[in-house]
Amino acid sequence: MSATHRIAVIGGDGIGPEVTAAAIEVVRAAGVSLDTTEFFLGARRYLHDGFVMDDATMDDLRGYDAIMLGAVGPAIGDTRVPPGTLERGLLLKMRFAFDLYINYRPFVGRPGSIAEGCEFAIIRENTEGSYAGEGGTLRFGTPFEVATQGSVNTRYGVERCVRFAFERANALDRKRLTLVHKTNVLAFAGQLWQKVVREVAEEYPDVEWDYNHVDAACIYLVENPQRYGMIVTDNLFGDILSDLAGAVSGGIGYAASGNINPEKEAASIFEPVHGAAHDIEGQGKANPLAAVSSAVLMLEHLGEHEAARRIDRAVRDFDADPVLLGTVGITRALLERL
Ligand code: IPM
Ligand code: MN
Repeated sequence: MSATHRIAVIGGDGIGPEVTAAAIEVVRAAGVSLDTTEFFLGARRYLHDGFVMDDATMDDLRGYDAIMLGAVGPAIGDTRVPPGTLERGLLLKMRFAFDLYINYRPFVGRPGSIAEGCEFAIIRENTEGSYAGEGGTLRFGTPFEVATQGSVNTRYGVERCVRFAFERANALDRKRLTLVHKTNVLAFAGQLWQKVVREVAEEYPDVEWDYNHVDAACIYLVENPQRYGMIVTDNLFGDILSDLAGAVSGGIGYAASGNINPEKEAASIFEPVHGAAHDIEGQGKANPLAAVSSAVLMLEHLGEHEAARRIDRAVRDFDADPVLLGTVGITRALLERL
């Protein structure tokens, strides 16, 4: 290649801008040309002038080749940003409006971690389930208050996610896929997921698949992570399971994610799973490896496979102590390995 890729950069809050800048530096050093535009969004922006998001900014963001996001969120204990403001108003808004229906989170067990030597990925449905916002309250604020929170599972939404997961599993050397759900209790949604997986599996005879209840999957992830290849699951289970997967793989400081629209109808978002870590903001301590790995997912999405492979290799080979090296040292170590 390579064409120049137009990238929207939402550094966000805390260490977000630092790790994103490091990731951009590494991508450029691998020979990929990026035309970046910074967007001032997140908690800092909200506290600055009350802005969260508007239609014009959404339309603008939608048209980029990809979005690199650092982290958005206020410092712990900062009550000036009401809970949900940035989650619903920014992150989930983009996931839903851009139809980023895949949340792809790959894990490579780092040396010394529970999952050392294991490699697996979680494919989380990213636009439905209990994140859809179905429900409401009745008699709010009275002793008789009622709250319901539904889970939306459409045949269409489940099938496209499951299909993507089989497609990815089929491309692996070890073609393994596990559906994770709670079909014994969440029977309505569970039967739909189970049925769709059974049907799509027929089209992928080489993929060996099985099913785990989500509670059991939590035990297996800790005790026997090597059993997993590709995991496909709904929005909420995927959210919870991917934090656990990050923890057993060496910490969510390493976990990458892509919020992907595979058909490229709108910009996909690539972000580290970790948060803003305000406590170490601006001290040069932030570990950019998760942001760099997220950039690898972005490069794959953009068709820059060679650069993606080289950077991924450099991250895997990184064996120094991130705490000792700090942001600049880690970035330099990656650049040397490219
Ligand atoms: C994640 C985060 C988000 C989620 C929050 C911040 C809305 O936890 O990306 O995993 O729940 O999806
Ligand atoms: Mn999460």
